[in-house]
Amino acid sequence: MTAKLGYSLKGRHFISVRDFLPEELRQTLYVAQSLRSRLLMGDRPNIMEGKTLGMIFQKPSLRTVVSFQIAMNQMGGNALYLGPDQISIGKRETTEDIATVLSGYVDGIMARVFGHNVVEDLSKYSRVPVINGLSDFEHPCQALGDMLTVLERKGTLAGLKMTYVGDGNNVANSLAFIAARLGLHISIASPKGFEAKSKVLETAAADAKEFSTGSHIEQLNDPIKAVKDADIIYTDVWASMGQEAEREERKRIFKDYMVTSKMLDAAKSTVMLLHCLPAHYGEEIAEGLSKDARSAIFPQAENRLHAQKGLLALLLS
Ligand code: CP
Ligand code: NVA
Repeated sequence: MTAKLGYSLKGRHFISVRDFLPEELRQTLYVAQSLRSRLLMGDRPNIMEGKTLGMIFQKPSLRTVVSFQIAMNQMGGNALYLGPDQISIGKRETTEDIATVLSGYVDGIMARVFGHNVVEDLSKYSRVPVINGLSDFEHPCQALGDMLTVLERKGTLAGLKMTYVGDGNNVANSLAFIAARLGLHISIASPKGFEAKSKVLETAAADAKEFSTGSHIEQLNDPIKAVKDADIIYTDVWASMGQEAEREERKRIFKDYMVTSKMLDAAKSTVMLLHCLPAHYGEEIAEGLSKDARSAIFPQAENRLHAQKGLLALLLS
């Protein structure tokens, strides 16, 4: 891919996919690919030497915590895990005081929070870049890693059709925003009442128009109709973190939305399966399907590391 270099992302926040222009998203993917190639050749540039990333977690994580920690380590820097019981945002002290104090110690902050307003507030009061490591509204780092995976496997992004089957949640929102900016078409199939918010769909469609990417953004209820001609099928859990009490009820409501081998058969023969993980097999994804030849789910998880290295390199170094 080609990327115009020269856009300065240093010091910027990444709270939403929409914080970056299409060229800036492409530049981040380009730097990620370059760092990944260098890593394969044993070349680990120490561009984070002397730098520390503060990582705030209000929710559990495997991929986000480990991939950010390793990203900083591979580039010669450090990361500091601050768990839910340690700083208790808004309970022990205010978000403003946490951001003000922490940004005096660290060079960047990554936060996984419940309310999107919390990560927005952190960025408002922080003197260093703040990265959204998942909120109830977006998961922009996941979307970056996902696009890196698609790019590696398909060689292109613009013009591909991505179908997201399941809950119109934080992951779906970031995918709609990134698709609109990078020229993928996105079709979201969800049960009635669980669609992506119309504000999200309208915003993504307006972005596609503003940047003339040609992306078509649609929300359907019928998953089989939505996967027709899909290059990518994507799914995520039916009950997100914080919605555990709704899990049983959602299992009933979403039962026709499990991604199965048959559903993959209804898409293009070259279809690629993605899932941000963690997966609930036998719910949103059939048992064994993550190991299907059409699945890129585990390389997708690895790509969180490479995508975030690109992001950290541009924001912090
Ligand atoms: N996909 C993802 O963000 O995984 P974790 O919740 O394990 O970080
Ligand atoms: N939608 C899921 C994504 C997990 C990575 C959640 O918010 O729990």
